[in-house]
Parts: sequence; C-alpha cells; structure tokens
Amino acid sequence: MGEEKPNYRLYGRAKGRPLRRGQKELLADLLPRLKPEMGAIKNHTGPVWLEIGFGGGEHLAWQAAHHPACLCIGVEPFENGVAKLLAQVAAQNLTNIRVLHGDARPFLDALPANSLDRLFVLHPDPWPKKKHHKRRIISPPLLESAARALKAGGELRIASDIPDYIRWSLMQVERHNRQQPDFIWQAKSKADWQNRPADWPQTRYEAKALREGRTPTYLRFLRA
Ligand SMILES: C[S@@+](CC[C@H](N)C(=O)[O-])C[C@H]1O[C@@H](n2cnc3c(N)ncnc32)[C@H](O)[C@@H]1O
Repeated sequence: MGEEKPNYRLYGRAKGRPLRRGQKELLADLLPRLKPEMGAIKNHTGPVWLEIGFGGGEHLAWQAAHHPACLCIGVEPFENGVAKLLAQVAAQNLTNIRVLHGDARPFLDALPANSLDRLFVLHPDPWPKKKHHKRRIISPPLLESAARALKAGGELRIASDIPDYIRWSLMQVERHNRQQPDFIWQAKSKADWQNRPADWPQTRYEAKALREGRTPTYLRFLRA
C-alpha cells in the first residue's frame, strides 16, 4: 500500500495589492539570493530558526537583527508579505535571513530531522468556521513534522488572539503527545502564556488584535 500523500493545498491569499516597482525588483533580484539551501542549513554552526507564515516579516527581521549567529528562515505564500520582508532585509542589511516564497509545510517536511532550534507559528489564519477547521495549520501532520524537524530542547512557539485557536492548538498538542510525548508546554503560571517574552517582538497581526480589543496568548513548547 502506498503512503498517503500530504495535503498541501493552500487556502489563504497569495497576492494582494499590485506590487510597486521596487518591490518587484526585490522579488526578482534579492529573493533568489536568499533561497534556503539544505546543505547550508545542515552545516550552519549556530542555531537555525524557522518562521511559518511571517506575514509582513517584522518578527523575523527583528529576530535576525538581534541574533546574528542564528540562521533565520521564513516561508510565506503571500507575495506582498514576502516583498515587505525583503525590503527590511535590504534596509537593515541582514545577512542571516533566508526566505522562501511558498508553502511552509513541504519545506518543513524536506528539512533534515533534528535541524531546527526554533519554530514560530504566530497568529496562524484562524479559520473560525467549524467546516474550515481542517484548514488550520496547527494540525496532526504539522505537529508530526515539527517534532521531526526540531532538535531535542528546541522550541515551538505559537501565538493567537483567538481563544478557540489556542484551545485547538493545546488540544492538538495533547493529542500528539498521547501518541508520542514530544512537546513540553512551558507554562508554570498564567504569566507564562499571558505575557509576551522579551525576545518575542510584536507582529503586525498582534498589534491589530490589540487595537481591536483582543488579547493574545503565547504558547511555548520544548521538544522533549
Ligand atoms: C494571520 S496571518 C499572520 C501573519 C504574521 N505571522 C503576523 O502575526 O503578523 C497568517 C499568515 O500565515 C500565512 N500562511 C498560511 N498558510 C501558510 C502555509 N501553508 N505556509 C506558510 N505560511 C502560511 C498566510 O499567508 C499569512 O501571512
């Protein structure tokens, strides 16, 4: 019997407003130079971090600027978001960022086992309708891939301002752990999930959520 094929169908937006000339140039010239290469990831001597769905890229750019020894990889299918991150890479001359325009799931699956020190999934698309829950990126296959790609002691960070998505994520992790106890939730007190750690800058979506009166929750799991 053949193995079941992973479902990599993308549901979110791939394009937004038409790109300005400078953005088009960044996509044509800079993006190919930032392609994450498996050999370089394997051989990187410092930590390797991956952000899935970086949106406008503010978080990844901040992490790269503050952690020069880290190789910070971002994967995002939304072209306008990719262009925004590229503009920050160029303006700040960040040399430790790699960017892939596309779906993060096949990329994560192609990574060597035990290659990531951190994995960020910040404010994933909430897909609030029950019939769309199967589109949520925090899912059994994603957690399986994350467990494989993360090193022991590595960290998975998830944030959301949607209480149902937080419940969903905790439930998915718990379900995964029943099969294989891979993720240890780092929450000793309420403060651990209510307060954004100092090394966790605000994302664009988080700022929007706060403006609109929603409260974000921050989940950190260590890979056992
Ligand atoms: C709600 S936005 C949050 C963006 C950003 N993380 C933030 O907090 O500002 C969710 C992002 O996930 C991206 N996304 C959705 N499916 C994805 C996938 N399979 N791989 C990578 N990114 C994905 C979307 O394009 C979108 O930019």
